[in-house]
Amino acid sequence: MSNAYVLGLDLGTSGTKTALFSADGKQICGAAREYPLYQPHNGWAEQEPSDWWHAAVETIGEVVRGSGVDPSRIKALGMSGQMHGLVMLDGDGNTLGRSIIWADQRTGAECERITSLVGAERMIAVTANPALTGFTASKIMWVKNHQPELFDKCQHILLPKDYIRYMLTGDFATEVSDASGMQLLDVPNRRWSEEVTGKLGIPIELLGKVYESPEVTGHISEEAARLTGLSVSTLVVGGAGDNAAAAVGTGVVRDGRAFCTIGTSGVVFSHTDRLSIDPKGRAHTFCCAVPGAWHVMGVVQSAGLSLRWLRDTVCSAEARLAAERGVDPYDVMAEAASRSPIGANRLVYLPYLMGERAPHLDPDCRGAFVGLSAMHTRDDLIRAVMEGVTYALCDSVSMLRGMGVALDNVLAVGGGARSGFWRAMLADVFGCPISVPERAEGAALGAAILAAVGAGLYPSVADACERIIKVSSTIQPDAGKSAVYGKVYQLYDRLYPALRDWFKELKDV
Ligand code: XUL
Repeated sequence: MSNAYVLGLDLGTSGTKTALFSADGKQICGAAREYPLYQPHNGWAEQEPSDWWHAAVETIGEVVRGSGVDPSRIKALGMSGQMHGLVMLDGDGNTLGRSIIWADQRTGAECERITSLVGAERMIAVTANPALTGFTASKIMWVKNHQPELFDKCQHILLPKDYIRYMLTGDFATEVSDASGMQLLDVPNRRWSEEVTGKLGIPIELLGKVYESPEVTGHISEEAARLTGLSVSTLVVGGAGDNAAAAVGTGVVRDGRAFCTIGTSGVVFSHTDRLSIDPKGRAHTFCCAVPGAWHVMGVVQSAGLSLRWLRDTVCSAEARLAAERGVDPYDVMAEAASRSPIGANRLVYLPYLMGERAPHLDPDCRGAFVGLSAMHTRDDLIRAVMEGVTYALCDSVSMLRGMGVALDNVLAVGGGARSGFWRAMLADVFGCPISVPERAEGAALGAAILAAVGAGLYPSVADACERIIKVSSTIQPDAGKSAVYGKVYQLYDRLYPALRDWFKELKDV
């Protein structure tokens, strides 16, 4: 075991990260590549699968060749990825257009059609979620309706990370956690639903074979070995959707454990050994990466994306200062936010740049600054954005607590959690301690742990996590600050109901 290594690849929305780990979970080296997000219309979001593939080849190559590790000692590769994106391939394995990704909101009409074809209650009973614009089924229906010539050529439907699996191994396969977000899986029974695929007219043969996350799905092909420097003996395991993988990478693999992530989207996630479905469909229930278990989570569409948008449109001064100091622009932005008081001098931000999921399930709402005054500075804008994202996450915390999930200690992960300032804000707003795991690799580490289990280096996911994952520090909430945030949160919470109808009218302007 001491000679064994595993690779974790995380195909995110802003970029791909690949890292090589020793069998006991220490990162040996890592590499990352960014790629663009295309937004041809308001509410649309697309990416180019070839960008993902180039990022995978380059990062794997950099890590494998740069590490100096003998490739035959890299026992297995695990992948984690942004969920829900639609990749369609023709009979020769060529992609049919760009991928419509999770953040895309164009499919409101298709969701209504899905609900009428399957029935609202059956949809929740079988797929554990109501028809949602972000999920894959409505994207497939959109292509059927608007680009029938593409759908006619389609022979394979894959999720983003499963497209990389196909390119690395030649196998058409997926695993239960990511497949749960397609709305074609029977989530309680962990297999494709003949009922839903049949009613939607989506041939089940287009979908890959479904595995559990730590199961081996294939091995590296000769062509992929030549491109990446990997060995053909390296196994590829199922892997997991990004949140299910982050759960493994933070040890959230037993009842009572939870994490919150601030990546492009934001998530509050709780593990459950027993299937638990929100009858109102606001929380997502998915199969998790632990065979036989599930998770419930609330998703904020534009968490880190809100701050990235502010960085790119407003914060060029902070970006310049960061370049001069040789630090990350987000560090300078957090410093700026800390100069503004709680409540950002009476400025409230709604983070609905790409509509919202939990708890509103509304593809048509949009972001807003409310209370803007001529006295406000960039410090206030940045603070308001960080607070707005935190209040949106708190909506999910309240929703899960309402379902009986105990959230009394939450692990924080993702880019946003690197900021101690933001973690303290999470603790004060959620009113519970926020811990950080010793290793910050999250989803990539989770994918690598699944690879280690698949390669037989550990008997189970829980056992591997027990040995590898440790908590490094914990921030306690400050009761005084919690009370002030609480007042702003109450005002925040009244804004969406006040604006809901207005957003619908705005959509038709
Ligand atoms: C989960 C979700 C996001 C994406 C992108 O339902 O849509 O977490 O996976 O990160």
